Amino acid sequence: MISSKKIAYIETFGCQMNERDTEIMAQLLGRDGYEVTDDLDRANLVVVNTCSIRGKAEQKAMSMLGRLKHSKRKNPGLMVAVTGCVAQQEGRNIQERMAHVDLVVGPQSIYRLPELIDAIRTSGEKRTAIDQAASFAIPSLLPDSKRTSLLHKRFVTIMQGCNNFCTYCVVPYTRGREVSRPPGDIIDEVKHLVANNVREITLLGQNVNSYGQDRDDRDYPDFPTLLRKVAEIPGVVRLRFTTSNPKDLSEELMECFAELDNLSPHFHLPVQSGSDAVLKRMNRKYGIGQYLEKIEGLRRYCPEIAITTDIIVGFPGESDEDFAATMVLLEKVRYDGAYSFKYSDRPKTVSAGFDDKVPEEVKSDRLRRLQDRQQEITTERYRDCLGHIMEIMVEGESRNGEGQWSGRTGANQIVNFTGNPTLQPGQILKVRIDEACQHSLRGCLI
Ligand code: SAH
Ligand code: SF4
Ligand code: F3S
Repeated sequence: MISSKKIAYIETFGCQMNERDTEIMAQLLGRDGYEVTDDLDRANLVVVNTCSIRGKAEQKAMSMLGRLKHSKRKNPGLMVAVTGCVAQQEGRNIQERMAHVDLVVGPQSIYRLPELIDAIRTSGEKRTAIDQAASFAIPSLLPDSKRTSLLHKRFVTIMQGCNNFCTYCVVPYTRGREVSRPPGDIIDEVKHLVANNVREITLLGQNVNSYGQDRDDRDYPDFPTLLRKVAEIPGVVRLRFTTSNPKDLSEELMECFAELDNLSPHFHLPVQSGSDAVLKRMNRKYGIGQYLEKIEGLRRYCPEIAITTDIIVGFPGESDEDFAATMVLLEKVRYDGAYSFKYSDRPKTVSAGFDDKVPEEVKSDRLRRLQDRQQEITTERYRDCLGHIMEIMVEGESRNGEGQWSGRTGANQIVNFTGNPTLQPGQILKVRIDEACQHSLRGCLI
């Protein structure tokens, strides 16, 4: 039975941008009198925040929407909204294919969510809002602290969109052009968060290294300058950022790792492929030689830095030799971790029109080989930590059993340990690492 109370459920697919958008929507709905629930069956508004980065991500969101058709048959009062990158990409097509979808809202229009819902309730008509914003859409809206479980660490969006047009990628089409957020708004949001006991801040954007470059305005600092300003705010215990395109990684940004004590020694530097020929067709604008120089630079400024990456296997035309070059790259860099994906054609992208598509079995085989080898390297990197004393930030009690806690190192590795009830999430502790597992470390408090 659906009550007259306004109750919303939000399902999130995709990257940290979408997670952050979900937080913002939850806050906006909260202000509008909604209770945000984790129980889908209690809700009379369901928001599906979708991702379109690969075919599979889109299918997941679509199948959830398909299931909501039955829920709506049972509860005709249920309102269904689609947000995120599939909403932007498909617009009205979604409602044409799925009559039970009331509202489609692109990532740059989520701030209008409550107003759009009201309009549907009064008019009884469906709505679509997928305009791309020319200016930065995040109003100086401050996050509430009720929604996320990990209150000690939060994301702060510094820019929207992407101008890079890597040939495989849908993001420039779904998130629009790069728009940097005013630096004052960023600083104010970080200050507000630390005043509310947040201890770790992650600055978010698709390509944070080009922060400020879309503005002629002298008030906009470049990314290393912004990073220093945020690092100076008292109470920022750990600072992180994501994501960076290697072509824009400057020496000045590398220096920040030597200079800023609270900047966590972790760099996520997506390489995508180890072959120059493939990188060229991906329009990545760097070659492996330059990429390796950047890795060397980072390690020179910060020898303990953890480096992680993203890799696509089976990009159109990827030969056995190209793939072998990616395997060689794993040995050269010895990544602390890698996210790897099978190439997938996306709407509007240039590579969707390329010939020489790699057969599915070849992609699967390459992915497995790459993941197997990277797993070994990751475990070897974990083993390098044995016996070391490391600083961790407490995450919380873990599900591993009574008295078991987990935390994260500066490099973002998970460390499990036996704790005690006085510990608080966000607290910094020292542990000695005495076991390396497949996906985590085990340590003891000292
Ligand atoms: N802005 C980030 C990437 C965001 S998308 C960057 O440039 O690093 C996250 C990852 O998804 C990408 O790094 C890429 O590895 C993967 N990806 C993007 N498009 C893809 C596609 N069409 N098929 C498979 N993987 C893809
Ligand atoms: Fe996509 Fe490339 Fe932009 Fe990253 S830099 S979001 S991969 S277009
Ligand atoms: Fe997915 Fe859009 Fe993020 S496509 S990865 S939710 S920017």
